[in-house]
Amino acid sequence: MIRVMSIFGTRPEAIKMAPLVKTLAGREGIESLCCVTAQHRQMLDSVLEIFQLTPDFDLNIMEPRQTLSTITTKCLLGLEGVFAQARPDLVLVHGDTSTTFSAALAALYGPIAVGHVEAGLRTYDKYSPFPEEMNRTLVGDLADLHFCPTESNRENLRREGITRGVFLTGNTVIDAMSTTVRPDFRFSTKLLNELDYTGRTVILVTCHRRENYGEPMAHIMKALRRLAETYPQVELVYPVHLSPVVREAAGKYLSGHDRIHLIDPVDVEEMHNLIARCRFVMTDSGGLQEEAPALGKPVLVMRRETERPEAVAAGTAQLAGTEEERVFSLAAQLIEDKDAYDRMARAVNPYGDGRACERIADAIEYHFGLRSAPPAEFRP
Ligand code: UD1
Ligand code: UDP
Repeated sequence: MIRVMSIFGTRPEAIKMAPLVKTLAGREGIESLCCVTAQHRQMLDSVLEIFQLTPDFDLNIMEPRQTLSTITTKCLLGLEGVFAQARPDLVLVHGDTSTTFSAALAALYGPIAVGHVEAGLRTYDKYSPFPEEMNRTLVGDLADLHFCPTESNRENLRREGITRGVFLTGNTVIDAMSTTVRPDFRFSTKLLNELDYTGRTVILVTCHRRENYGEPMAHIMKALRRLAETYPQVELVYPVHLSPVVREAAGKYLSGHDRIHLIDPVDVEEMHNLIARCRFVMTDSGGLQEEAPALGKPVLVMRRETERPEAVAAGTAQLAGTEEERVFSLAAQLIEDKDAYDRMARAVNPYGDGRACERIADAIEYHFGLRSAPPAEFRP
């Protein structure tokens, strides 16, 4: 048996790794173990509950207002003990968080082979997104297996000289969506059942990135408030990340308006169904940039750059930046100009076909000699 340990710590990693942990558990030649660092606590537990996943190890590291150094050192020390006990043959990490980087580094020290899920995303700007760009770049060097969602991700790795152990799989987030989105879904958050999604302009908002802390976030939030004040048909729904920095900014700029709904984070089923029902999405999130296009919803990306150019190329996402005027005017255009809206509101799936987990499991089996051929590549 090949012992594969999936390690993750935050909400988006959990959403994208949960279906993979389950797929691996269904393979005869693989023993699938799951270790959470709990870099996030409540937001992670909510995902574990929805996907009915019980971790074998839980480092429980989260602290309020944690720093990058605390996360990294606590993960490194905690994982040393976990590896000594479980002795995995392969460690799987996901994406670009501090958990991702620390777990890959801990595995190097093991030494244990590393597989990187969601490999090859780049902006080539060291500080944007921060610290994610360097996390994923460094993990690219540490990893033995690289599971790229798209061809352009694979091309990024090729440019860096990484050509061995690279598989084109699609993104596992699309696999996750196959179980969450339902036309008859009932929200447990009361407001979300009461909103008039067809009569009103419901805009879904999220904003949490570290490089947006401070002035960019203030600009974004002023633009959001102006949208609600300018357009009486607009209802802004903003599930606010639990980071105290983000909650303070949202409270300061957006509270006290009857059509700006600041709510707690919603679980992933609610989120996916909310995307499916809203008019469009304004976000700095990575995951939402993948999910909204799959559900035919325009996305305004409130960042200076994106490592996910595919949806921009397909015309369903626009890079809005973080300047108040531009964020406001791009959203205003989607509200006022039906043709502009219709051009963006086309369901495209550049990120996956729902079979990424199967391909990753096949690739792992191939790497360990349990299968004679690599999986067929993902084609959008
Ligand atoms: C982290 C990732 C980021 C990812 C994001 C997803 C890093 C450096 N950043 O950023 O790449 O996009 O997760 O959401 O890895 N908190 C809670 N409860 C929770 C989660 C967070 O209270 O369940 C609060 C804590 O005070 C914590 C703070 O939020 O200290 C920040 O969490 P942290 O994981 O450090 O950063 P994120 O901004 O969430
Ligand atoms: N998400 C969620 N509830 C929320 C906000 C986001 O379930 O209240 C989901 C979202 O659908 C996506 C993931 O969390 O799958 C994205 O997480 P986040 O934006 O925190 O991180 P990023 O993707 O930017 O790293």
